[in-house]
Amino acid sequence: MTRILITGASRGLGLEFTKQYLERGDNVIATCRQPDKTEELERLQKEFGECLEIEQLDVTSEKSRVNLYQKLSDKSIKINLLINNAGIISGDEKESVAFGELYKEDFSKVFLVNTVSPILISERFLPLLKEANESVIVNISSMSGSISNRTRSGGYAYSSSKSALNMMTKTLSNELKERKITVVAIHPGWVKTDMGGENAPLELDSSITSIISVIDSLSIADTGKFLDWQGNEVNW
Ligand SMILES: NC(=O)c1ccc[n+]([C@@H]2O[C@H](COP(=O)([O-])OP(=O)(O)OC[C@H]3O[C@@H](n4cnc5c(N)ncnc54)[C@H](OP(=O)(O)O)[C@@H]3O)[C@@H](O)[C@H]2O)c1
Repeated sequence: MTRILITGASRGLGLEFTKQYLERGDNVIATCRQPDKTEELERLQKEFGECLEIEQLDVTSEKSRVNLYQKLSDKSIKINLLINNAGIISGDEKESVAFGELYKEDFSKVFLVNTVSPILISERFLPLLKEANESVIVNISSMSGSISNRTRSGGYAYSSSKSALNMMTKTLSNELKERKITVVAIHPGWVKTDMGGENAPLELDSSITSIISVIDSLSIADTGKFLDWQGNEVNW
């Protein structure tokens, strides 16, 4: 049985991961900031029953991370796949801040959610990942974090938070290689979500179907890679 823990599962990519993994018979721990305000997850709960566990997790909160870890640990839950998906575009979670209007709180909030939280969550939940055989950590990164592909300006906090997430991914992959835990960063494509916007060329379901097949094909030989939704390696 495969059990998958997903952060930021209330909408967008995280919700679609939850839906598609449930549809194919996996068990999902869908985590979100406000579980009582997620109608879509409640609908999935009615459809998939015990296969879906909806849990509160604000990725930035130590208390929230510890509470969830304790709850899962008390139930001797093993996690085969952790998807660090929760992310924000800016400090106000709406629009990037332009050069000339930058302020430090924007950077600190974006880095806290997009970069620091994935590594702290991976660290916290590691004992449950170790319990499973050859488990996998996927950090949802972005092409925006690729320094060598950068051609545009703007998006200072977001793009640099994803570059730093890529470094976290590579470093963690080295940390966990001997334990046979695979760690990768995946760029999901430019996808129609609240963050991606309606002009994005990729539909949510096709991005996630494709990412799931990339994840299925991963082995420890892939650890430390930065891949796109089709499994192509992305230049750092
Ligand atoms: N869409 C794209 O084109 C695109 C491209 C490249 C990379 N990405 C990456 O893909 C991931 C998902 O993006 P998306 O497009 O699905 O974005 P989205 O539609 O804006 O959804 C973001 C999700 O993150 C959650 N979240 C934000 N802060 C959180 C926190 N502190 N604790 C827990 N959850 C939190 C949100 O929860 P609430 O509902 O509570 O706000 C929401 O579920 C992000 O890491 C993003 O950077 C997206």
